[in-house]
Amino acid sequence: MEPYRIRPARPEDLDDILSIEDDSFDPAIRESRETFRERMEVFPEGFVVLANSDGPGGYLCSELWDLPGLPGTADFALGHSARDRHSPRGRTLYISSYGIRRSLRGCGLGKALFRDFLANASSAFAFDEVLLLVSKTWAEARAIYAAEGFRRVLELPGFFRFSAGPPADGEVLSRPRFWDSTGGTSAPMMMDKELP
Ligand SMILES: CC(C)(COP(=O)(O)OP(=O)(O)OC[C@H]1O[C@@H](n2cnc3c(N)ncnc32)[C@H](O)[C@@H]1OP(=O)(O)O)[C@@H](O)C(=O)NCCC(=O)NCCS
Repeated sequence: MEPYRIRPARPEDLDDILSIEDDSFDPAIRESRETFRERMEVFPEGFVVLANSDGPGGYLCSELWDLPGLPGTADFALGHSARDRHSPRGRTLYISSYGIRRSLRGCGLGKALFRDFLANASSAFAFDEVLLLVSKTWAEARAIYAAEGFRRVLELPGFFRFSAGPPADGEVLSRPRFWDSTGGTSAPMMMDKELP
């Protein structure tokens, strides 16, 4: 497999990003093209793809939030406006969405994208903590977040309403900006670092 690299997302990536979104999430909770386009316009530094010459195989987008305290359910509404929520001086880096094309899963790309994005973000933006929302049913993502030092700060019972089956509980996870599994200082990586 040709190596994948992380690079900033571009408007011409939107078709691929939407097809990865289709691969990754139940139809009832997928974000729209307009939502992704707005995220790209509002905080381009926080929106990356993992790509090779075949195009993007994964994406990750984020926002900086100015949170006065613990977030609540309304903060995580599907399709919330990044333009309204993003604050360049916000001290909370919120990972708004993240996925890898189904055919490429299970070989380390998801973990590498997540880890390298955060390592780069730690040197590129000023924030204090990283925040994200995950469904209790997303075992692969939860395994990655646990390994990367995220801990639950809030539970959102029945938050995820899928197109079939019962609702699933949501968990808001958080991690300080500076976290290192070895206890040392983490070294920022290059945006164009080659991935497996
Ligand atoms: C989460 C996601 C990005 C991971 O991508 P990936 O390329 O498959 O991830 P990796 O191969 O790097 O790692 C997957 C990890 O999950 C673990 N895993 C896989 N299946 C698992 C399961 N059923 N239970 C627990 N852990 C599991 C793997 O063992 C691996 O961890 P390890 O390297 O320590 O062994 C991908 O599964 C995806 O796009 N899922 C749908 C979208 C999603 O859930 N996004 C997160 C939104 S919060």
